[in-house]
Amino acid sequence: MDLRKELELRRKLIEKSLKCFLPKAGEYPDYLHKSLYYSLFAGGKRIRPILTLAACETLGGERNQAIPFACAIELIHTYSLVHDDLPAMDNDSYRRGKLTNHKVFGEAIAILTGDALLTLAFKIMSDTNNLNRLDPLLVIKIINNIAFFSGIAGMIGGQAVDIKSEGKKIDEETLNYIHSHKTGALITASVRTGALVANASDKDLKLLTEYGQKIGLAFQIIDDILDIEGIEKKIGKKTGSDKKGKKATYPQCLGLDASKRKAWELDEEALSILENFGKKASLLSGITKFIVSRNK
Ligand code: IPE
Ligand code: IPE
Ligand code: MG
Ligand code: MG
Ligand code: MG
Repeated sequence: MDLRKELELRRKLIEKSLKCFLPKAGEYPDYLHKSLYYSLFAGGKRIRPILTLAACETLGGERNQAIPFACAIELIHTYSLVHDDLPAMDNDSYRRGKLTNHKVFGEAIAILTGDALLTLAFKIMSDTNNLNRLDPLLVIKIINNIAFFSGIAGMIGGQAVDIKSEGKKIDEETLNYIHSHKTGALITASVRTGALVANASDKDLKLLTEYGQKIGLAFQIIDDILDIEGIEKKIGKKTGSDKKGKKATYPQCLGLDASKRKAWELDEEALSILENFGKKASLLSGITKFIVSRNK
């Protein structure tokens, strides 16, 4: 399998679908639309929606049925980035290779852009025109699942503890909570969403949930490492942001080498879970390896 080609195919599908789901550019108030487009089409990796499609395909599901949910997850992720960069949070100036949203549109519009992206995600998922022959009860279950992992018990909980831990010495358990919630939760939700669309058995859903938790944590550990060792042009954001913000990170807590080992270990564990699905999981395996070897 040509991984790069397979990822590119799905990335293009997501980009195209996102454009269809978005309100038309130029609609009033146009600065809000401009701001939304600015952050959403700024060259993100689209790893979460691609994971949703890949998990669905691994279980023999119909990729097209997963698209509205995959796009909604990317909108939720983008909203989290716009808010994460605000002065009240990480106070960052570059994202996806461009000035952060609030640097261009101002803080108030950046907050509203995040709000709009989040709301739009739930509008798309609950639009009966996007049902694609899925059972409405299953759709409610999927939406509830995404809300759970994006909210207090997931991403928002992680972001809150992340902010409250700045400048403090925290133990590994708290660090693990931060990373597995602020980032791991939405990645887990992405995988679970694909599995749910494919009508996963309880056993497969449990296996893929554990898989998602492992790659989700590995993903954030690598993000911490790239904040130290990454190349700004590649990662599209400034390095050294965590140090500047006195953030609780894996390298700061365990050191760089042990953090790298931890990420690779998690990845190995994730790959061994995928063995349960044989050859059908080859795309997910490829993404799993990409997560720890990536330079962006
Ligand atoms: C960055 O996520 C923020 C984290 C949760 C670590 P990504 O590295 O997936 O960012 P994009 O979407 O590719 O810009
Ligand atoms: C971001 O974590 C997590 C979310 C946005 C939910 P980081 O603050 O480490 O992400 P970057 O490094 O700014 O992309
Ligand atoms: Mg942050
Ligand atoms: Mg940040
Ligand atoms: Mg980071």
